[in-house]
Amino acid sequence: MKNIKRGFILIGLSIIATSCYYDKYQDTPVTPTQVSFATDIQPIFNNNCIMCHNGVIVVSPNLKEGFSYNALMSLPTGSIIPGNSAGSELMDMLNGVSADGLTMPPSGKMAPKNIALFGNWIDQGAINN
Ligand code: HEC
Repeated sequence: MKNIKRGFILIGLSIIATSCYYDKYQDTPVTPTQVSFATDIQPIFNNNCIMCHNGVIVVSPNLKEGFSYNALMSLPTGSIIPGNSAGSELMDMLNGVSADGLTMPPSGKMAPKNIALFGNWIDQGAINN
């Protein structure tokens, strides 16, 4: 009986120990991996945007490869604020909460992974990498 009790105490302690370890792990700040405009962001445009934003059907911004970066940088002030995705109007469009009612793509929000990548790219300085 005493051994069984001790067994439970040991199991209990190891659960507490593992959960502490887990908490510690969770609190460690996660550095988002470096997002690449060419290999992470452009494919998102290719799959979700250029059927309209190709310089012909919808002129601004032209999101085709080779045009997209300059076109994004030429958007009205506040559309993309490097280092500040939360303040960038384009993020509101992607999240469907834009003040002027534009959701991009208009058919509905993209997969959360794509939206998060785009946000990280802005937070990392919105560079043409
Ligand atoms: C089905 C067509 C369509 C798709 C797909 C689409 N858009 Fe648009 N987008 C439009 C139209 C049309 C407008 C202009 C709306 C207006 O001005 O009323 C627009 C406007 C915009 C604007 C504002 C431009 C400005 O000058 O302020 C941005 C930024 C934008 N889209 C980004 C995107 C992004 C990024 C994607 C892909 C994730 C996307 N759009 C997908 C049709 C589309």
